[in-house]
Amino acid sequence: MREANYLKERNARSLWHPMTHPADSLMNPPKIIVGASGVRVRDVDGHEVIDAVGGLWNVNLGFSCDPVKKAIAEQLDTLPYYSTFRGTSNDAVIELSEQLREFFAPEGMARAFFTSGGSDSVETSLRLARQFHKVRGEAARTKFISVKKGYHGTHFGGASVNGNANFRTQYEPLLAGCFQIPSPYTYRNPFNETDPAKLAQLCLAALEDEIAFQGPGTIAAFIMEPILGAGGVIPPHESFMPAVRAICNKNGILLIADEVITGFGRTGSWTGSRHWGVKPDMMCIAKAITNGYFPFGATMIGETVAEAFEADETGRANIGHGYTYSGHPVGAAAALACLAETKKLGVHENAAERGAQLFTGLKELQLRHEIVGDVRGGHGLMCALELVSDRAAKTPIDKDTIAKVHETAYRAGALVRVSGANIILSPPLVLDEADTDAILGALEEGLGAV
Ligand SMILES: Cc1ncc(COP(=O)(O)O)c(C=O)c1O
Repeated sequence: MREANYLKERNARSLWHPMTHPADSLMNPPKIIVGASGVRVRDVDGHEVIDAVGGLWNVNLGFSCDPVKKAIAEQLDTLPYYSTFRGTSNDAVIELSEQLREFFAPEGMARAFFTSGGSDSVETSLRLARQFHKVRGEAARTKFISVKKGYHGTHFGGASVNGNANFRTQYEPLLAGCFQIPSPYTYRNPFNETDPAKLAQLCLAALEDEIAFQGPGTIAAFIMEPILGAGGVIPPHESFMPAVRAICNKNGILLIADEVITGFGRTGSWTGSRHWGVKPDMMCIAKAITNGYFPFGATMIGETVAEAFEADETGRANIGHGYTYSGHPVGAAAALACLAETKKLGVHENAAERGAQLFTGLKELQLRHEIVGDVRGGHGLMCALELVSDRAAKTPIDKDTIAKVHETAYRAGALVRVSGANIILSPPLVLDEADTDAILGALEEGLGAV
């Protein structure tokens, strides 16, 4: 490895970071992570911390998951690449499709279309949704509805259904025909409603209103995260997603569950849809499918959609979509090993237990620290603190203050993620009780420093 000073001086000289102003990378150099084991990462100065970000919501099994590493190494030796475009396939991807079908059977998923990550999975689902309606002779159904504050990646389709201006404004004009309804976000919403059940009803009414306004026959799909993640961990009321399902059914609209974060146990259930008792028409998965060790994902396709495509005799169901790395054998081998380990460890159960511990601890922090305006979580290992400079006025905290909380927590042993005025926590699902306390302790120091 190059020496620390060489790396620090050069980081932003030849590298642009995602989701960052290039000048900011120069002014506020990032942590340079050079090693990791278990649930901890180590920086170039040798400082070791618990990774309360879990990579980027993806390293669910931690950094020492040998079965996944071994599967990748072995697959590289046997078949490092082959395409799954028409005419060829590979053994690993066939086996994986069967296993995913079984794993997602409770959601009614029947087929897998493989991708290189979450944005690809979202793009695939949006494209297949339009095509589904064309195949069935409803070509006018092209529009998409989604939720404000939702995050669906950064391809043009995904960005167009995103519900956060940060990922949209500088890239407009986006895809035409995409509309957002208010988010079930109790802390801030246009209705000034703090009761989650009542707010869910108001958001659902807005959805019905939007559908009536656009015309049901023009809408292809509604896409949502079962629990909003990157937008600041917003769990909707339990009535929300089942009611969305019913509204979609009534209007012939497909329901796409973006499970890029919530798939594979993070919510305390195996999927976010299962958490709410909903069967979507398609599911977008990625991230924890390979524990973050290989860029990989899939769009899972439900029975109804699969049947329409497979029964088509017009040629309209020919899939004119796919990626060079769709069904990559190394990704598939990684996913097979990861799925086996995920199921063996039953990580959803630990996510539920540690998530409850974390959420309780965060609410206690709120009692002691005036700058904690809102605490969100309560569904597995995905939590957020929203920081404010004035609790009564809910004034969002400034950048420098939250940066101080972040840095102090880091020095005290936990890497957390700052997103606007939110501190987001999405640690590995193999976190233990002491690790959870250590994250809370580090946050206590961080919040106490301002
Ligand atoms: C819900 C959701 N969808 C899609 C994406 C995009 O995934 P990727 O960054 O792998 O393209 C993300 C990434 O965080 C996500 O959280």
